[in-house]
Amino acid sequence: MKTRTIRPNVHWLGAVDWDRRLFDSLIPLPDGTSYNAYLVAGSEKTALLDTVDPPMWEVLERQLREVPRLDYLVAHHAEQDHSGSIPRVLEKYPDAVVICSTKAKSMLVDLLCIPEARVRTVADGETLSLGGKTLEFIYTPWVHWPETMVTYLREDRMLFSCDFFGSHLATTDLYVTDEGRVYEAAKRYYAEIMMPFRTIIRKNLDKVEAKQIDVIAPSHGPMYNRPAFIIDAYRDWTGEKCKNELVLVYISMHGSVRTMVEYFVSALAERRVTVHLFNLAVTDIGKLAIALVDAATLVVGTPTVHVGPHPLIFHATALANALRPKVKYASVIGSYGWSTKAIETIAGLIPSLKVEILPTVLCKGFPRETDFAALDALAGVVAEKHAAL
Ligand code: FEO
Repeated sequence: MKTRTIRPNVHWLGAVDWDRRLFDSLIPLPDGTSYNAYLVAGSEKTALLDTVDPPMWEVLERQLREVPRLDYLVAHHAEQDHSGSIPRVLEKYPDAVVICSTKAKSMLVDLLCIPEARVRTVADGETLSLGGKTLEFIYTPWVHWPETMVTYLREDRMLFSCDFFGSHLATTDLYVTDEGRVYEAAKRYYAEIMMPFRTIIRKNLDKVEAKQIDVIAPSHGPMYNRPAFIIDAYRDWTGEKCKNELVLVYISMHGSVRTMVEYFVSALAERRVTVHLFNLAVTDIGKLAIALVDAATLVVGTPTVHVGPHPLIFHATALANALRPKVKYASVIGSYGWSTKAIETIAGLIPSLKVEILPTVLCKGFPRETDFAALDALAGVVAEKHAAL
């Protein structure tokens, strides 16, 4: 992709990664991603904001052939998908200086072996004039590392937000054209890396909303020329209010748990509770993370394997525990053959979730009428709790 002009002397650079399907060797990327960098040229100085993932360096290098001089390289975030090509840029422009937050400096030095002398830190709220273009640096910690900051370009009322407000989406569109599609991608991104920090993110939202913003330019996915779309979404996702939704993750080996799950889903639907059902044998964990953003209740369905839950339950509960969604209630349903400690084990796997534990339903062998009655009762409790949200 060639350099694209956004405003006079403000340009999009970077790479669209159509083929990437996994991030951090963990997170599925069904729609690829992009690594956006931006070039701001003032009458006196020129700054590059972020770089690209190192495998995409050649794309950025071709774009930079049109840039004879670079004075500053703003590093909003030390993670390598944005910072990884900084050493190559510094090599290309021997006089360029890296600009970053105080916390980012040691991280950039540690991760990329950049000489400390090439790095200059800026304080929260500090400005840098390029000549007719003023960069204002705003600390926004924990979106999603401790060192993250964003840049506000005063004259053009643009916010360069790096991961904050980003979406993993490969597209030729410079701006959001399909809000529904970007909403899903941005929510997936929020759920996977931002959700554990939602309290502090609310404070960051206050800071950026104090600015007059015409365009939000993230470092993944398209830019927002209607900033309220993504800011409102973040307000909703980071808010305390849960929705009348239940996430049910389960695995079944011989059909007992599947039978319980099918009955329970039907009982919840009768009571108008929205269910997001995930069979862990085929689940995209990004979809599971998205569902956890709004859900009021998490229920785990498991057979008993060697007295404890099925091994796939460990993965799913570890993920839920790490993402710290605002879920308020939890329960376990499942089956066992002769003995089980599945409930106690699962409870110990989610210490970070501040949940009220609802009644659990465990059946010996295949479920019978008393088990179905217990599932009906549990569905009733869930509906009652959700009605009071
Ligand atoms: Fe897009 Fe946290 O890196």
